[in-house]
Amino acid sequence: MSLIESIHRKEAHIGIIGLGYVGLPLVIEFCRAGFRVTGFDIDPAKVDSLSRGQSYIRHIESERITRCGPLFSATTDFSQLADMDCIVVCVPTPLTKYREPDMSYVFSTTKTIAAYLRKSQLIILESTTYPGTTDEDMRGILEETGLKAGQDFYLAYSPEREDPNNKEFSTGTIPKVVGGFTPACLAAAKALYDSIVTTVPVSSTKVAEATKLLENIYRAVNIALVNEIKMLFDKMGINVWEVIEAAKTKPFGFHAFYPGPGLGGHCIPIDPFYLTWKAREYEFSTRFIELAGQINTAMPEYVITKAIKALNDNGKTVKGAKILICGLAYKANVDDDRESPSYRLMEKLEELGAKVSYNDPYIPVIRPSREYARYAGRKSVDVSGEFDLLLISTAHDEYRKNDFGKLGILIIDTRNIVPGDCKTLYQA
Ligand SMILES: NC(=O)c1ccc[n+]([C@@H]2O[C@H](COP(=O)([O-])OP(=O)(O)OC[C@H]3O[C@@H](n4cnc5c(N)ncnc54)[C@H](O)[C@@H]3O)[C@@H](O)[C@H]2O)c1
Repeated sequence: MSLIESIHRKEAHIGIIGLGYVGLPLVIEFCRAGFRVTGFDIDPAKVDSLSRGQSYIRHIESERITRCGPLFSATTDFSQLADMDCIVVCVPTPLTKYREPDMSYVFSTTKTIAAYLRKSQLIILESTTYPGTTDEDMRGILEETGLKAGQDFYLAYSPEREDPNNKEFSTGTIPKVVGGFTPACLAAAKALYDSIVTTVPVSSTKVAEATKLLENIYRAVNIALVNEIKMLFDKMGINVWEVIEAAKTKPFGFHAFYPGPGLGGHCIPIDPFYLTWKAREYEFSTRFIELAGQINTAMPEYVITKAIKALNDNGKTVKGAKILICGLAYKANVDDDRESPSYRLMEKLEELGAKVSYNDPYIPVIRPSREYARYAGRKSVDVSGEFDLLLISTAHDEYRKNDFGKLGILIIDTRNIVPGDCKTLYQA
């Protein structure tokens, strides 16, 4: 039986490598469609928890995992890759400390796949990356086995468009771009994704990789634009939030982006620099990306300046001030604090001698991370009037319901949550 036939019959066994924010929803969708799915991860704690039907990601309810039933199993035993008909790679693609692509996860996973590669398998990369990763780098590693892509095995790229905790769109409802190394590779990958979602076939893996980068660069640049406009309008005494709401009423040609304390998450602060790096190979400089990066990474400094001013206006110094940061997550209503600008704010305020606490209903305790290991174990504290200054960094729904004005303390609001008539409010 051909691979495509076994996909149509739901007999193909699917392996998902990397059971994180991207991999786990995919597991659930393929199980829902009736496929047997084995999840692979190097983290035994995640594998244990998922094997017990326990989700470790707050917005993915455990019930969605238990509903997969016997179709789903999780393992750290990568030798089981040999039994998979389709293998989907969803491992991290961060930046190194020199802000260059850290491809170690993708390449080590590809080497592991190569160790078990067999004829007719379909290998798909989903991790966000620069054009050429799939058909040059991954293919090179996989073909060291002697098997040829497009001839002996299928190779494809399909970017993820997950928007965590977006109730309107989820993995099963967001159209998925798919590119294959050959038309046959595309046909196999398209057949697989057609069973869970609407697909958008493109002519190559490079086009699919570039599509994902364009989407994220578009966001990074537009957020930088609105952040810059915010700083100017603030000087001019114009409320940028009111301007955006008014501009949004234009029924065409304007898409609203919102300012904030800086970029966060696993995608927007990172992915654009994958293209910047690759562009150097072509002696090309990605000026828009660099400029957007400069503006967005400077936003925490701007917020700190505002905090210093607010304290100063009230006869206080940042040194020794008790400051509460409201929101550690990089976006509203999720427990994802990766690359969150709140950590930069915490770090910079502490450098200036402030005593900084945080509140986040989604992150009761800070988990260990590579960049901010020293904060691991710190606990969320209650929002109260016991602080000199409250800095709102994330627009969690819980905060929207809170009457911060009642606390009677200084407030720096980076998310336009506090009503403008609050006497102690500073927009930042
Ligand atoms: N989070 C998002 O909303 C989102 C959206 C679109 C694209 N992406 C992209 O998807 C990819 C994965 O992101 P994520 O947010 O799911 O990351 P994540 O950190 O949530 O999950 C990655 C998982 O891979 C595991 N892992 C790491 N190395 C491994 C290896 N060698 N073998 C097996 N497992 C390994 C980790 O333990 C972790 O469970 C990245 O390239 C990211 O840029 C993420």
